[in-house]
Amino acid sequence: MTQILDGKAVSAAVKAQLAKEVAHMVLMGQAPPHLAAVLVGDNPASKAYVGNKIKFCKEVGYKSTLREFPSTISQEDLLHQIALLNQDKGLDGYIVQLPLPSHIHEDKVVEAVDPEKDVDGFHVVNVGKMVAGLPTFLPATPYGITKIMEHYGISAAGKHVVVLGRSHIVGRPISVLLSQDRPYGNGTVTVCHSRTKNLKELCAAADILVAAIGRPRYVTADMVKEGAVVIDVGINRVEDQFTKSGYALVGDVDFDAVSLKTSYITPVPGGVGPMTIVGLMLNTMLAAKKNRPTRP
Ligand code: GUN
Repeated sequence: MTQILDGKAVSAAVKAQLAKEVAHMVLMGQAPPHLAAVLVGDNPASKAYVGNKIKFCKEVGYKSTLREFPSTISQEDLLHQIALLNQDKGLDGYIVQLPLPSHIHEDKVVEAVDPEKDVDGFHVVNVGKMVAGLPTFLPATPYGITKIMEHYGISAAGKHVVVLGRSHIVGRPISVLLSQDRPYGNGTVTVCHSRTKNLKELCAAADILVAAIGRPRYVTADMVKEGAVVIDVGINRVEDQFTKSGYALVGDVDFDAVSLKTSYITPVPGGVGPMTIVGLMLNTMLAAKKNRPTRP
């Protein structure tokens, strides 16, 4: 029998812990952590993600600020807004929700964020620190994945980990984290991508398979070893005539068939999704702690 890795339950546990920490900070006369989110345009998925982040802040007692701009904002104006957020002493951290409209260079915006406030962990300084194994903000989704593994006592040590996808925000960083000498790390990691030749065979040899390629139900049962751990990062919208909205959210893994073979598997929704916000909120608490004076 496979065990479901319940991201919602782990998120609720972390939420309770963070709420306690916030209450303690406030009791000590300190300001609660303050997170801002920058939302450009009206991409419905981005709006929903940012809405969930703000909601989480409210639930744990963080202060939150939403800065919304039209999709027509110029790169120059957006960079000016970023500079203002960098200077804001009352703000511990912020995120710029991606993707940005095509006329804006995402790299320029990401690199304009003060690394000390980069709770997404996307700035090259923070990516570099992560790769070097130095303490820093870890990118939210990979951080969330390590937290769900920690909660269920799943270690990558000595295991063959196969990561499908090499994106800057998921595939690449999770491959780094799970190969490092750190708790729940020490795996032997293979990163697969569009040019990988024997992808099916590699997946079928994995003890831990992380799917982050953004293709609905791409990982089928024949690609998964009996007893493997499967972490599904995909959130794909597919047409579904049986739902009211006419679509359903599915992962990169064919859950129904694959879950018959796994030892542990994350569902979609309710697996990695809630853990991404957990990663962001843990980073924001870390930023706030750095900014609050410690008592003698
Ligand atoms: N778009 C998709 N995932 C993320 C994320 O983790 N952070 C930000 N800022 N944008 C995203």
